[in-house]
Parts: sequence; C-alpha cells; structure tokens
Amino acid sequence: TTVDVDDADYELSGYASFMHKEISEQPEALRRALLGRLDERFATARLGGINLDARALRSIRRVKFLGCGSAYYAGQLGANLVEEWARLPADAEPASEFRYRNPVVEEDTLYVAVSQSGETADTLAAVQELRRKGGRVIGAVNVVGSAIGRECGSGVFLHAGPEVSVASTKAYTNMGACFAMLALLLGRVRDLSVSDGARIVAALSELPDKIAEVLEAEDAIAEVAEKHSTAERMFYIGRVRTWPTAREGAQKLKEISYVHAEAYQAAELKHGPLALIDATMPSVVLIPDDELLTKNLATIEQIKARGGPVIAVTNAELPNGLADSVIRVPRSEPELDPILFTVPLQIFAYHLARQLGRDIDKPRNLAKSVTVE
Ligand code: G6P
Repeated sequence: TTVDVDDADYELSGYASFMHKEISEQPEALRRALLGRLDERFATARLGGINLDARALRSIRRVKFLGCGSAYYAGQLGANLVEEWARLPADAEPASEFRYRNPVVEEDTLYVAVSQSGETADTLAAVQELRRKGGRVIGAVNVVGSAIGRECGSGVFLHAGPEVSVASTKAYTNMGACFAMLALLLGRVRDLSVSDGARIVAALSELPDKIAEVLEAEDAIAEVAEKHSTAERMFYIGRVRTWPTAREGAQKLKEISYVHAEAYQAAELKHGPLALIDATMPSVVLIPDDELLTKNLATIEQIKARGGPVIAVTNAELPNGLADSVIRVPRSEPELDPILFTVPLQIFAYHLARQLGRDIDKPRNLAKSVTVE
C-alpha cells in the first residue's frame, strides 16, 4: 500500500541518519533550486517550466496550493507570499480534502499541486479532479518523471535531490524557495516595485548561506532539545508569516519524536489553549524581528505568567531572561523568515528524537510516500 522511495546511489556517507544528511544538504539543495532562476536585471524570477507568459500570468486572479502533510504547510507559506507580493488572494488546502467537496474550479485560478515524491495518491487525485473540470494546474514536485509531474505537464521542479528520510526537510525548504520565486514573478507582472523585486532577489540568493549559518549552530540547538526532551507535549507558536512554519515545526516533532505538538497562532492562545499551559508544557515561540515583535513578546509574557517554559526562536534582541532557552536565527528579509526559521525547528526535532532513541528515518506508522487513499 505504500512505497519506500530509495535512490540506489544515495548513501548515508558517514551521517547517522538520512534526516541528518538531508538537513545538512540544505544550502546546496537550495542553490540548485535557485540556479538560473533569479533574474537580477529585471528583478524577477524565471520559471520557464510553468509555461505561462506575462499575459497568462496577469490573467490569474487567485492562487491555490494543494498538497498533503509538509507539502500542504509549504503551500500555506507560498500562499502568504503570493498575497504579500502579488496582492492576489491565495490559500492552501489539503489535497486530501479538496476532491471530496465538489470544489468550485475557477478559470482564472492558478492551482499548484505540491509534492516531494510526486506520487501521493490524494494529491494526484486532486490534480485529476482539476483537469476534469478544466482547471489550470501546475506541479511543484521534486521527483522528475513522477505521476503528479506528468499529470500536470508543466510546473517547477524542486531540485532538492533524493530525499529518503520520511520527515521532509530539504524538499520543504526548496518548496518555500520555489514558491517565493513564483510569488516574485506574479508580483513583478503586477505592482511589485523594481526595488522590492531586487531586494527579494538579493535575499533569495543569500538564503543558502543563511541556512549554512543555522547549521553551524547545531550544537547549541541540540543542547536546547536535550534540555526539553522530557516534555510530553509542546506548543509551537507562530503568527501570520510564521504560522505555517509553526505547523511544520510541530509536524516534524510529532513525526520523529512521538511527542505531541500542536501549533497555534499567538493571538489564539488566549481563546482556549492557554488552559493547557503549565510547567510541564514548553512552548516553542517563533519571534521574527518584524512589525509584530512587541505583540509576540507579549505572548511570551502570557505563557510565562502561567508557568510555561518558553523556547524562543528569534533573530531579535530579547530582554534578558524572558525566555528559558533561545535559538538564534540569522537576519534575512522578513518575508523569507518563514523559510529560514524552519531549519532550526528541524534540527531541534531531530536532536530531541535522538535523545529519545527514536528510529529517525523510519518513524512508526508512517511512510515516505502514501500512494493509497
Ligand atoms: C507522507 C509523508 C510526509 C509528506 C506527505 C506528502 O505522509 O510522511 O512527510 O509530507 O506524505 O508527501 P509528498 O511526497 O506528496 O510531498
């Protein structure tokens, strides 16, 4: 019922697990995804494989991302970027839900089918439903020649290289970067300025180095993970831009450590979940140094006031002693924080799962690629 994706030539080469190898490969994987696709002269992106010229791009009125699991969260990150840069309404939906609700398929919507393997049955079925109804769908897949890639016929390859670990890492960050380029392209045929375009192009080309910087902090992140490895449940708190990142971070922890993790939007905490907070339930709080900084600091105060341990993941200067543990992230452009902040969360989940002695690459009950409903 499920397949294990295994690339014959892809080996552990000294790493303790494929997940660790794939986390470490992210700078080079990301460079591959960006290669030849950033256009400095026109401050835009070039995505020839989507087969949409400027006129076709301008006719798009809405963008919808469809995927499962991490691919769905990456789609949500992409939808936020499309809204922010192209000012087009955009959202993401689990592909597994889409086909069962007799969806309204609009001609001027661009549908993006997101899948690392390109074989996920629910995502493939969503694409088939779209094609039946005449929807315009492109793929964002990693495995060339896969079913979803072929069914879509056009799209953007993720170029992450083989991903063996069940928990997705480098494919996820490459999804984020590819959606950033799609959003940039959609923005630049509309009202996104040359200066914003140039700022984004520069930030994207620097992103692999920023990820390399996060990787250098692995030992410090491992220490934080060890410190909190007795927790049986955790919150992951993000908001707006970092909300998909919080969801993906919680997903990573659940998948490989079996610790229950739930993502919440910071401002929603007070509408119920605060009741769960006590000294045994840490919260991983994502605090980018952006326009919501003071509000996010207030969230930490709310958690502390209930005795909850706080693990702050941040590129801001926090008041001393505010958080119990701090994971530092380099600065980038704020719109790219959701991609960059994903990496420390992968490393955190990885070391926490190791501490608990889990089978990192093959977590119980899960498969790399689910080819049945
Ligand atoms: C499985 C994996 C997840 C993955 C999801 C979608 O459930 O365990 O890690 O995110 O499938 O996979 P895809 O290959 O379509 O991205």
